[in-house]
Amino acid sequence: MKKVILTGLRPTGNLHLGHYFGACQNYLKMQTEGYDFYLEIADVQALTDNFNNPEKVRKNVYEITKDLLSIGLDPDKVHIFIQSQIKEIAELTVFYSNLVTISRLQRNPTVKTELTQKKDLFGNKGESITYGFLGYPVSQAADITVFDGELVPVGDDQLPLLEQCREIVRKFNSIYGDTLKEPQQVLSNTTRVKGLDGNEKMGKSLGNAIYLIDDEATITKKIMSALTDKNKIKKDDPANPEVCMVYYYHKLVNSQENITKVCSECQKGSRGCVQCKKELIAAMNDFLHPFKEKRKYYDENPDLVKTILTTGTASAQIKATKQIKKIKQAMKIDY
Ligand code: TRP
Repeated sequence: MKKVILTGLRPTGNLHLGHYFGACQNYLKMQTEGYDFYLEIADVQALTDNFNNPEKVRKNVYEITKDLLSIGLDPDKVHIFIQSQIKEIAELTVFYSNLVTISRLQRNPTVKTELTQKKDLFGNKGESITYGFLGYPVSQAADITVFDGELVPVGDDQLPLLEQCREIVRKFNSIYGDTLKEPQQVLSNTTRVKGLDGNEKMGKSLGNAIYLIDDEATITKKIMSALTDKNKIKKDDPANPEVCMVYYYHKLVNSQENITKVCSECQKGSRGCVQCKKELIAAMNDFLHPFKEKRKYYDENPDLVKTILTTGTASAQIKATKQIKKIKQAMKIDY
């Protein structure tokens, strides 16, 4: 039996470099390694903090699918499916909700971080946090285990959610007998990509992201305003590339030869920031160009994108149907 990979993405916006280097590169590698690979477009999870904006979630289901296809995800190797269409996930979420305490959910570091970012939605102290949002780690445990997922390629912000999933699995197995597998994370070499402003994390809500679909004018504007070594005042001042976001992105998208050159010239003071940014803009555009070319094809063929999702969802359904049967038997609710 092939090992199962399960991972997910929230359809709340387009893919940016943080997704690409943090998680997607691993998808691309793992899709060639002979796994049974399910990739969930987590629309139900996206609704937990976008319940008032269903149009946005629906639009981004297609946007994110097109982004994934344009970076080279192969629908013949990966079942790309829509979470809301697999009812067993919702069913299992209800079963798991007995196995986790409210205080444990409130202590989940990912939930805590997100709460502080969502003051508008849930109030300053999270006093209007919804049941659905607080419970999304439970639903994510259902996402993984309803497909019998063993490997979960994710960025490191997701680790507390995986830990919570493993706790639920252990609890389930200890009560209902050995039924579920404990999933393991698969982290990429770049676990987290910093934002244009130097923030530890690149994110849509942080407004510091470079998107895979950004056009050349947008890339230019963003890179021109990226954080550099603030101690460098004049063009020929020597500077420290390690504190500069321009050098940081050179390291992600440029050739080794150019990276070495940028670093040594910056340290010596023989390279101005404007020149350095212009070179990065060119390198970034070259890096993104093949994605945009492929993306055009999917933009022109929306029916194909829909078919890919329908086919992926049908495969996911087969797997979920089998697994929920096993789970209900273990719980003695298989009437
Ligand atoms: N929580 C993930 C994110 O915000 C998305 C996600 C949903 C996921 N279900 C998952 C990730 C299952 C891994 C496994 O990006």
